[in-house]
This record gives sequence, C-alpha cells and structure tokens, in this order.
Amino acid sequence: MSKWCFISTRKSLIEKRNITGAKCHYLCQQISATMSIQTQIDQFEQKIGSDITIEPKDWMPDDYRKTLIRQISQHAHSEIVGMLPEGNWITRAPSLRRKAVLLAKVQDEAGHGLYLYSAAETLGVSRDQLYDQLHSGVAKYSSIFNYPTLTWADIGAIGWLVDGAAIMNQVPLCRTSYGPYARAMVRVCKEESFHQRQGYEIMLTLSKGSDIQRKMAQDALNRWWWPSLMMFGPPDAESPNTEKSVRWKIKRFTNDELRQKFVDVTVEQAKILGLTVPDKDLQWNEETGHYEFGTPNWAEFKNVVAGNGPCNKQRLETRKQAWEKGQWVRDAAMAHAEKRKNRKKAA
Ligand SMILES: [Fe+2]
Ligand SMILES: [Fe+2]
Repeated sequence: MSKWCFISTRKSLIEKRNITGAKCHYLCQQISATMSIQTQIDQFEQKIGSDITIEPKDWMPDDYRKTLIRQISQHAHSEIVGMLPEGNWITRAPSLRRKAVLLAKVQDEAGHGLYLYSAAETLGVSRDQLYDQLHSGVAKYSSIFNYPTLTWADIGAIGWLVDGAAIMNQVPLCRTSYGPYARAMVRVCKEESFHQRQGYEIMLTLSKGSDIQRKMAQDALNRWWWPSLMMFGPPDAESPNTEKSVRWKIKRFTNDELRQKFVDVTVEQAKILGLTVPDKDLQWNEETGHYEFGTPNWAEFKNVVAGNGPCNKQRLETRKQAWEKGQWVRDAAMAHAEKRKNRKKAA
C-alpha cells in the first residue's frame, strides 16, 4: 500500500501517527468532509450576513430547512383555512358590490395558499405530504380562523384586523432570507393591502350607519380584537423558535415587536371609526411613544391551538371533505395530462 494518502497526499500523517495508508485515507476523508461542511456553513452564514437570498439549490443547515418548511406550510394552511370564515358570507353579502369584492378577496387567499405551497415544495416536501399534515392535525394554522363569523360586521373586522395583522407580519417577510418565500410575499402583500382596505371600508360604513350597525361594528371589534393580537404568536419569552429565526433572517422582527406595531397603528384607526378598543389597560405612553396594552388570554390561545377552539373541528372537517370530493378532479387532470403526452408521442 502506498505511503501517500489518495485524498490529501498527507504522507506525514502516515509517518507521524504510524498508521496504515487505509486508515489515513479514512481519516483524511473525515477531515475533508468536515472541512467542506464547515465551508458550506461559512458560505451560508456569509450570505445571510450580506442579505443575499438562499435559493433552493444552495446548501442550507437542516434546521433552517425544517424551520422554513414549518413556517411556510403553516402560512399556506392559514391562507386556505382562512377562506372558510369569510366564504361563509359570500352568499349573504349585503350588495352585489360587496359580494364581488368578498369573492375576489377569498379567491386571493386561495392564490396565496398556492404560492406558499409552491415555495414550500422547493424545500423538498411534496404538496400531498403538506395536505396530509394539515388533515391529520399534525400541522397548525393560524388560531384566528377557528373563531366564527356571526354577523356581516365580522367580515369588516376580519379585513381590517386579521388582514391588517397579516400585513404587519408579512411585509418584513418580503425580505426574508429564503428567496422563493420572499418573492411569493411581494405579491401576497399587495393583495393583503386591498383586503385590509375593503375590511376597513365595511367598518367605516357600519360605524357611520344606524345605531344597530354601529353596535354590530363594536361587537365585531370586541370579539376579534384579542384573537388578532394572538395572531403574532406567543410572547417572545415563550417562543422557542424566534431567536433562531431572527438570527437566520427568516423573521425580521419578533412576535412582541410586531404586536406592538399593530396596536400602535390600529388603535388610531379605531379612533377614526369612533369605536372603542376592548382593553381597559390601553393607554398612550408619552415617553416610549407607544401604546401600553393588556395581556391577551394566552390560556385561550393555547387551547385554540391545541384544537379546542369554537370551530377547529368544523374547519378541519370542511378541508378534509373538500380534499376527498376533489379526488375526481385530480384524477381527471392526471388522465388528461397522460392522454396529451401519449398523443404528442404518437404524432
Ligand atoms: Fe392572504
Ligand atoms: Fe388577506
């Protein structure tokens, strides 16, 4: 056996340690593998540090990939499940204009789900796997969609507060470190801004309307305010993934920072509507330049996330049924694609 290692030609290693060429060959393989992983980590960290996006074919740490798959798929599921509370009001919208607007908005949410599932697929997970995780209850989606829409004012409150919170969360994601996610978010955010405005317009119309309409608007704000604050996730101290996500620039702001921004902006909008934010602890702090606000009911949040919210079972059942009833459409599309392929081959 040669006294020279095939990998690094480290003759000295063989001589110094008095080992065989084969053993040296093995050791050098280990060293060069470690070195190349270290080089890949360095390159990855360098890109993150210089705000260069990570692309699907780039090397990335397993944890980064896992965190992204979890976040993007949760986001996609939220868009799709989020269609249900509002879809419930399409047939009952108070005018043709409102119906057309709501229909367009709900359709946008389906599109958001599809961009996001596509972005998640670039990380090596299949669409079927993602749906399976949703239907089996393994994957989560935003807890807010487990609350019922009781009146038309709820459609206004959802657009104003829920889409408003989504914008707060999603605008920074246009600069997230994973390229396909960041690019999907650019279009999503443009549409979310239309969603927020249509909701605010409904609230404005109701709050300037009759006594009953004003009461409806206030009642919707009372029911949707706290769940909207919960949309930003648990407090930073109880959010184990936040620190890593911020370091990898997946998240640009922490849950608490985004929640504060949302409160600061939305309280001012509530004043224009002449509605009262249902928080007795809410007060402006001159020194910090921010609103101080009460603590959301985190026990309720945990309970809803655990599957025990008012509509969890109903939402999941509706999604499962839609999947099962759509099987023939997927089969027909596959059969059509196969026929076209064969026709092309035969031509
Ligand atoms: Fe959306
Ligand atoms: Fe939206």
